[in-house]
Amino acid sequence: MLRDTPSTVYLKDYLPPEFLIDQVMLWFDLDETETRVRSRLELRRNPAAQSRSPDLRLHGEQLELISLSLDGQPVAPAGYLQDDEGLTVRQVPDQFVLESEVRILPQQNTALEGLYKSGGLFCTQCEAEGFRKITWYLDRPDVMSRFTTTICADKQRYPVLLSNGNPSDTVELEDGRHRITWTDPFPKPAYLFALVAGDLRAIEDSHTTPSGREVTLRIYVEPENIDKCDHAMASLKRAMAWDEQQYGREYDLDIYMIVAVNDFNMGAMENKGLNIFNSKFVLASPATATDRDFQGIESVIAHEYFHNWTGNRITCRDWFQLSLKEGLTVFRDQEFSADMGSRGVKRIEDVRLLRAHQFAEDAGPMAHPVRPDSYMEINNFYTVTVYEKGAEVVRMQANLLGPEAFRGGTDLYFERFDGQAVTTDDFVQCMADAGQRDLGQFKRWYSQAGTPELTIQGVYDAAQQTYTLTVEQHCPATPGQPDKEPFLIPLAVGLLDDRGTDLALRLAGDSDPGPTTRMLEISEPRQQFVFEQVPVAPVPSLLRGFSAPVKVRFDYSNEQLMFLMAHDSDGFSRWDAAQTLAQRILLQLVDDPDSLVPEGFVQAFRQALQDSASDPALLAEVLTLPAESYLGDQMAEVDVEGIHRAREQLKTLLASELKTELLAVYRDNEVTGEYRPDADAIGRRSLRNLALGYLMQLEDQAIQALCIAQYRAGNNMTDVITALSLLADRDIPETAELLEGFYQQWRDDPLVLDKWFSLQAMSKRPDTLERVKGLLDHPAFSIANPNKVRSLIGAFCSGNPVRFHAADGAGYRFLSDRVLELDQLNPQVAARMVRLMTRWQRYDPARQRLMQTQLERILHTSGVSRDVYEIVSKSLE
Ligand code: PHE
Ligand code: ZN
Repeated sequence: MLRDTPSTVYLKDYLPPEFLIDQVMLWFDLDETETRVRSRLELRRNPAAQSRSPDLRLHGEQLELISLSLDGQPVAPAGYLQDDEGLTVRQVPDQFVLESEVRILPQQNTALEGLYKSGGLFCTQCEAEGFRKITWYLDRPDVMSRFTTTICADKQRYPVLLSNGNPSDTVELEDGRHRITWTDPFPKPAYLFALVAGDLRAIEDSHTTPSGREVTLRIYVEPENIDKCDHAMASLKRAMAWDEQQYGREYDLDIYMIVAVNDFNMGAMENKGLNIFNSKFVLASPATATDRDFQGIESVIAHEYFHNWTGNRITCRDWFQLSLKEGLTVFRDQEFSADMGSRGVKRIEDVRLLRAHQFAEDAGPMAHPVRPDSYMEINNFYTVTVYEKGAEVVRMQANLLGPEAFRGGTDLYFERFDGQAVTTDDFVQCMADAGQRDLGQFKRWYSQAGTPELTIQGVYDAAQQTYTLTVEQHCPATPGQPDKEPFLIPLAVGLLDDRGTDLALRLAGDSDPGPTTRMLEISEPRQQFVFEQVPVAPVPSLLRGFSAPVKVRFDYSNEQLMFLMAHDSDGFSRWDAAQTLAQRILLQLVDDPDSLVPEGFVQAFRQALQDSASDPALLAEVLTLPAESYLGDQMAEVDVEGIHRAREQLKTLLASELKTELLAVYRDNEVTGEYRPDADAIGRRSLRNLALGYLMQLEDQAIQALCIAQYRAGNNMTDVITALSLLADRDIPETAELLEGFYQQWRDDPLVLDKWFSLQAMSKRPDTLERVKGLLDHPAFSIANPNKVRSLIGAFCSGNPVRFHAADGAGYRFLSDRVLELDQLNPQVAARMVRLMTRWQRYDPARQRLMQTQLERILHTSGVSRDVYEIVSKSLE
């Protein structure tokens, strides 16, 4: 906990390590009161070091030193110095062996970083800087070493003992304990170290790689969950085959293990050969998991698997390069999911997430580049910018190079840097070399924060038959970056003729007409593109497929948007046109509840609902109105109540105008037979549940009965939880009983209870905050469990804007109370929660003051963590 103001770490201060570690041997003695860790490090001076101090400085926190020796000789007390952050060993030789023993207390580790207990299991989480809570080490990603790990524990409580690499035989010891040694042949940074011990069961399968290596695949879970691992295993096998096919990358050890734990700060972790997962991203059965859960599992399993090449074999030189592994790996998992399901829908979902969260981050006090240049606490930089915008930055390189050169670029990257710790510049250089082009300007995407805005105008010249697009780019200032240099932006455009058909595009100077979508390269503040031989005034389709993470301003008429909605050949752009139009209408309703909703809009919805040929999943996306928080982001000052009212009003209007069509969609899209989470069934369920959501706006008893019937039929969790959420929004007499029944039915399944907490937290009912406060005391709730915190507190504060931002400030007080309580236990999760209050400048003066008051209160609480301090202090600057 904090004593002084935390210091800032800068990218510009990077220096190569002074020492390297060739070999590490670790011995763990796991016990109920304490754990002993012995380590043996083979150290030598780094020939590439740029500085030379006589001493060795190692990281280490919350370690109790028991013994220390150098080359077999105990180090005298004068020979070392221990402080809060590490250990200095004085006057060391150029090459030596350092042995130490420390005592640590995993049972008291509530931060869930380092070695900790989750239920009856021992597990570790070392990224980013958790290994230093296990033993003294050079805990930085550019120190890669070979690890040998011996684990010793009580055999009955901990029959399964796991670490990275390949296992030796177990040795039975006399005192009821047993011991095993794991050897990882691949050098790795300490953040990829993992250890698990517990009473676990596993399902096993195997995969043969193209080169003929047979890999044993195991998923370990607590005994009661053994029947919920099949989807994860099938996903893993698909991911392995896909990476072989798409990137020519195969797995490199004889065994690949995944362990599911209930207490985990993030989604999952790519430790070499031994991934540790939040159980939310492993366990699924039709009765307990929704379609979203099934999809989430497939994508997170793939993400962690893909890290083996993009992250582990080639890792980050320093934590400023985090997006090197995360942006690239997210891009890879997005493409994998697109190939496994519906590509168009996947793209829409990813863009929706990016716009809702990353654009907001880019416009707020925590805005930072994809490659940040400073931080106080690295854990605060596992952000949507580093991950999702980072993925878009990789995608843009693929857009600029085309698929073949992009694949050439990744091949080159693996060839050039295998076994090394490198930078985002190194990655881009591979792309530049493979694409044979200069990407110098492109690299600004890594160094400049903020979301660029493109203002586009189109002029048709009937006499010349030309269409001229004028594109201007501008990027708003972000903290520490008042002025931006122009970006290189791939802008995919098409032109539709008056029947909605794509025109072949011929740019001035082209000898032949080109394809119907062109990737324009925007590099100047202002640029013009002249299309020739354009027979009619076209409607432009801009930013097809969301070819760059930018905002586009073009002065479309409502009619043009409806035209694009109906005809654009690009699915993403059809959806985007619908969103733009819906947003325009909603913002008008915010201003004036009596403003008229264009009849054409309702008609477009009607047509979409009646179009039996269209893909239900895509249709569900088109018919989903922009979220309240996203609408708020589009306003100069967020009108919390106005937005909520307008959105409810439009939903109700659409429901009453389109009741017949919605009921037909509901009836026609029932999915019968055994539950399957395939693209078709998922699409139909989502459309059907969307229709039910609209219909429930009508406060109609027959429809409520339909909703209750859907809940009771209960053949899959998607339908059940949708129905229960819709009921929980309303004052329907049955609701209380149904909620209680649901709890009784699922009281032993923590993941299902997470959904139960969330849906109550997101209820539109006016008394929701009181209920949420009540649920804090529910026996199934625990503030020590991150999933519970996210599903109750997180869901309320981020998923229920109208209640969280209540004018009296009760929501803000609630959040700051929880943050202070949580910060004592788990600073990482506390810092995630406090972010939900940091965009106070977007609100009216009264709410601003209320939020500032709470933020200041947090900042001035003594002992606040570095994690929370960084977020709060930056938000108040
Ligand atoms: N590296 C993990 C991933 O993206 C995320 C993570 C970060 C997990 C830090 C735990 C701690 O796959
Ligand atoms: Zn990752």
